[in-house]
This record gives sequence, structure tokens and C-alpha cells, in this order.
Amino acid sequence: MTAETTHTALRTEHFSAGFAADDPKQPDEQTTAWLEAVNLGFHDPSWDPAHLAAIVQAYVADERTLTGVYDDAAPEHAWNPKAPVATYATMSHDLNAGSELLPAHQITSVTVRPTHRRRGILTDMITGDLRRAKDAGFAVASLYASEAVIYGRFGFGAATDEPMVEVDVRGRLELRTPPSGTTVQADLAKMETLAPEVFARHLRVTRGALGRQAGYAKRAAGLWGEVPEKQKEVRAAVHYDAAGNADGYVTYRFLPWETEPHTLKVLDLVAVDDTARLELWRYLGSIDLVEKITAAALIDDPLPWALVDRRRYRITMVEDSLWLRALDPAAMLRARGFEADGELVLDIVDPLGLAQGRWLLQVSGSAPVVTELANELPSGVPAVEVDAAAFASLYLGGVPATVLASAGGIRGSAEAVRALGGLFDVARAPYCSTHF
Ligand SMILES: CC(C)(COP(=O)(O)OP(=O)(O)OC[C@H]1O[C@@H](n2cnc3c(N)ncnc32)[C@H](O)[C@@H]1OP(=O)(O)O)[C@@H](O)C(=O)NCCC(=O)NCCS
Repeated sequence: MTAETTHTALRTEHFSAGFAADDPKQPDEQTTAWLEAVNLGFHDPSWDPAHLAAIVQAYVADERTLTGVYDDAAPEHAWNPKAPVATYATMSHDLNAGSELLPAHQITSVTVRPTHRRRGILTDMITGDLRRAKDAGFAVASLYASEAVIYGRFGFGAATDEPMVEVDVRGRLELRTPPSGTTVQADLAKMETLAPEVFARHLRVTRGALGRQAGYAKRAAGLWGEVPEKQKEVRAAVHYDAAGNADGYVTYRFLPWETEPHTLKVLDLVAVDDTARLELWRYLGSIDLVEKITAAALIDDPLPWALVDRRRYRITMVEDSLWLRALDPAAMLRARGFEADGELVLDIVDPLGLAQGRWLLQVSGSAPVVTELANELPSGVPAVEVDAAAFASLYLGGVPATVLASAGGIRGSAEAVRALGGLFDVARAPYCSTHF
């Protein structure tokens, strides 16, 4: 545990989630108070004491570093004086950058108590943390944003989007694609080991996918959920390819009978390829007594194109999902798969200075060559200036370069922006289904 002082009367501590010394089954006081403060910040109910130990175990497995900012001057009637007035947590999982898996620094559980907001506590926590992450060798930082206006100022850009869809499954859900492999109702107890195995394969082949925290396997097995009653309603199915290998799974819950039309909610659908994804939908569409299915989807979803009646598929909402922040642009570029050849000078402008610099990027067939430049500009090579947040949005290919250039954040001639798009645009939108 380390401690430092951020503001007068405020004390910051970094620690790991842990259990009480005298009762290894009970989370320690500091961890319990920190979790309570996070729930307060997100308007979530308090954890059921029976579940607290499992949560702490999962946090330990994730190797999360927790940060708490404490106000020791709390008056007599203040709620839980041991609870921090601000929380912040970090961990790391691999991000599929297109060519390589890049360890990503992940930021989560960011809250500041209303009584302490807008006096720079988040700014202190995040700027200090990003510097430490860069010093520790991370090339990229990542988070999910509760509001879109918070993190741009710290150099983060939305990098992937996630649509929510409704599929009308009354009658038969007919697909044009021929059936492939087999789908079975899964033994929920086996999902705790199977789900991470399937996800690991998905991660290796999906640009934008991010390794998952320990809680995902527990949720897939119905062992863990925000509302304990609901986890008993979890069902799962697994798809096997023609060779008998599990290449996709879906977990879902039937909403209460009073719900009209009768609705099945997909909790998680992970597939190694489009065939497995479509076969899982074929299975979902064959479940009797269901009229509507709701699910998170991917931007370039083959499902509406595979349906005989594509109007059964309706996008109800699209939200940004993964946000990125460059810490080492050269390492990011080396790990990024490019789908076309080209060369370009990239000037990254970063008010925090973490990703500031100029690089020559050359892609010709194999691994990209990235050369740091001082002030020189090689003649005949297109050059663009990109703000750190715009670079983050561009990185996985979630937005075409020309669109982002029109929206601001990228400066250069029309020819240079076209060259940027030629290198960075991707055929399939990146997809991240890991929430944290
Ligand atoms: C978002 C939150 C963490 C901000 O904490 P904070 O300590 O008040 O932030 P700071 O004082 O460091 O603010 C830094 C800047 O961001 C702005 N900002 C911060 N949160 C903002 C918000 N939600 N909307 C608009 N602007 C915001 C501040 O106005 C300030 O701008 P300035 O530098 O121009 O004055 C806090 O409001 C909170 O806990 N919200 C509820 C939980 C939540 O949404 N957490 C984020 C999870 S991803």
C-alpha cells in the first residue's frame, strides 16, 4: 500500500483488494468501504454481504489496484468516515490491436463524491495514473465512459461502438445461410471453464476485443450477477463446429412472463467466427414461447443480412463502448494490423505530453516500420497532424479518417487525409464486448 497527499486534508491511498487478517473469508475494512463508495457513486445498491467475498476474490484475480481519496475531516454525521470520497481502479488485459495483442492499462470505478466534485480530484487521479502507466511500459490506456464529455480532455477518444438490437422472432426466424455444426443447451456448471476458453479464441481473431475480468466466467455460469435472483434464470447454449470444437456460446435470460411481447434477453454472445455467431442466433430464434430477443450486437453484424426478413432486426440504440488513450504511439502502431500499404508522417499533438511526437509510418506487406522523427519532414510523404483523442478514435479503425477529419482533430491536406484513411480504415468495424 502506498499513500500520498493530493489536497490539503485529502489523503490518497493505493492498495489491493484483500481479506481480513483475522477472518480470511471476510473482505477487509478498507476494501469493503471502497466498494461501498463505488456503489454510492454509481447509484448502485449495497453489495449483499453474502456476495462480497466473491467480488473481492474476483478483484484479486484481476490484480486490480484500487485508489481511494480520503477526507479525514469528515464531520460527526457524515456517512461512513472510513469510505473514500473518490475511487479509482486499474487493471490490465490484452487488447487485440489488429496484428498483435497489446497489454492495455484499464481504468474503472471512477467516482468523486458530490461534495468533493469539480475541484480537480479526478484530474489529479487520472493524470498521475496515466504517467505511472506510461512509465510502467503500457502503450495504451482504456476505459468505458459514463458520460461522453468527461475524458476527451485527458486524451481519450471513443474507439468502438456497440449497438443494441431487437429481433422479432415470432413464427420462424429464417436464415439464408445453411446450418453448420451443432448447438446444444449447455450445462451451466461447465460454462465457468468453457466461456473463457471460447473468449480467448475470439480475442485472438477480433480487432478491438479485450481480455475479460474474472467476473465474466462466473456470470456465464450463473454464479454471479448484480441481482442474485436473476442469476438463477441464466441459461446457456454452446455451438460446436463440424470438427466438434466449441466455437461460440450464448447466455440468456427469459424476462418475466408479464413482459409483452415475451422477451428473451441475451446476456453474452461470444463467437470465434460469423458462422458460429449465426448458428447461435439460429438456436435463439428456435426457442419456443419467445416473441422478441434483445441483445448487444456488433457494428458489422452479419445477422440482418443473413435473415430472410431483414426487418425483423432493429437497432434500438448505438453507444460508444471502448475508449482508448495513447501512451506510446510507436508501440501502438507496431502492434496494429494494417490492411493496405502506404507511408505517412503522423504528428500527434497531446496537451498532457504523453503521446506527443512525430513518426514516419511505413507499411509494405509485413510488419509496419515506425521511425521517430525530430523536426524533419521527409519530402514527398503525406503528413497529418492528429490530436491525441482523435488518434485514439482512429486507432482501431472504428471511424473512417475522412469522417474524423471533417469532425476536427485531424489536420492535413485532402491528399494526406486520404493517405491516412488508406492506411487506417478497416474492412470490418472493430468490436469490443468486454465491459469494465
Ligand atoms: C465524473 C467525475 C468522476 C468527475 O470528477 P471531478 O473530480 O468532479 O472532476 P474534476 O474536478 O477533475 O474535473 C475536471 C474537468 O472535467 C469537467 N468534468 C468532470 N466531470 C464532468 C461531467 N460529468 N460533465 C461535464 N464536465 C465534467 C470539470 O468541469 C472540469 O473542467 P474544467 O477543468 O474545465 O474545470 C464525478 O463527477 C463523478 O463521480 N460522477 C459520477 C460517477 C461517474 O460518472 N464516473 C465516471 C465513470 S466512467
